[in-house]
Amino acid sequence: MASHHHQTCFILLGLLSFFSTSVVEVMAGNFYQEFDITWGDSRAKILDNGQLLTLSLDRASGSGFKSKNQYLYGKIEMQLKLVPGNSAGTVTAYYLSSLGPTHDEIDFEFLGNLSGDPYILHTNVFIQGKGDREQQFYLWFDPTKDFHTYSLLWNPHSIIFSVDGTPIREFKNMETKGVAFPKSQPMWIYSSLWNADDWATRGGLVKTDWSQAPFTASYRGFSAQACVWSSAGGSSCSSASASRNSWFYQSLDATGQQRIKWVQKNYMIYNYCTDTKRFPQGLPPECSLS
Ligand SMILES: *[C@@H]1O[C@H](CO)[C@@H](O)[C@H](O)[C@H]1NC(C)=O
Repeated sequence: MASHHHQTCFILLGLLSFFSTSVVEVMAGNFYQEFDITWGDSRAKILDNGQLLTLSLDRASGSGFKSKNQYLYGKIEMQLKLVPGNSAGTVTAYYLSSLGPTHDEIDFEFLGNLSGDPYILHTNVFIQGKGDREQQFYLWFDPTKDFHTYSLLWNPHSIIFSVDGTPIREFKNMETKGVAFPKSQPMWIYSSLWNADDWATRGGLVKTDWSQAPFTASYRGFSAQACVWSSAGGSSCSSASASRNSWFYQSLDATGQQRIKWVQKNYMIYNYCTDTKRFPQGLPPECSLS
């Protein structure tokens, strides 16, 4: 019964041929069913019948979790409430990644700070093992006071990072112009909270204050409209089923373009595409194309 319920709730696009509408109901995922605690023992906790997950960090260890499923395209949403107070030195990472030296990866990383000083939202995209595509942002709210939604849309056309529904970054598929795009390696969802006080806050100048430990970040409201991948069955999305799903073809509309401009103008603090010092041989090709 439990597993039947689970299948009904979780968005397996393979099942969609069953439904005649193009509207996909997104159900909140249950942390017990969707994730495994992979690091930190009891520092990671699933609570409230699977509706809430907390990670914590102390001097001895951080903690983390990983999705049971692998995905090859999807719209993945999670609400996070970050380490409050003096979170300097801590990093909360929330990302998609495949395995191995030529892995693909799409990252959100939240770099903590002293009480009252702003977090940095650090983003990156790795394709076939190569990253170096960082963009960093301040947020327009305090991410430690309440839960906020961080989502990754990954489809054949683009990767869109959003915060509370506002797109902050887009990485378009520019394969026709010779830029690689992640499209064949299924990714897991990962999250972890760890100590990175050698670089995270003011470039490593501000250290973790262990008298404040344990540091805790909270998660809820997971949802995935996604193509689940299995080695036995391949992708759960046939092109027929995927074509009924708006997320699979979604790209930024005019409003989205305006929002991204607003965020980039007012909140972006680092963009690899403008860092000419770092790339003396010339900026990466996607920078001039997008
Ligand atoms: C921390 O606060 C300082 C001072 O406002 C700021 O320069 C820095 O970007 C903030 N974030 C991090 C992660 O260092």
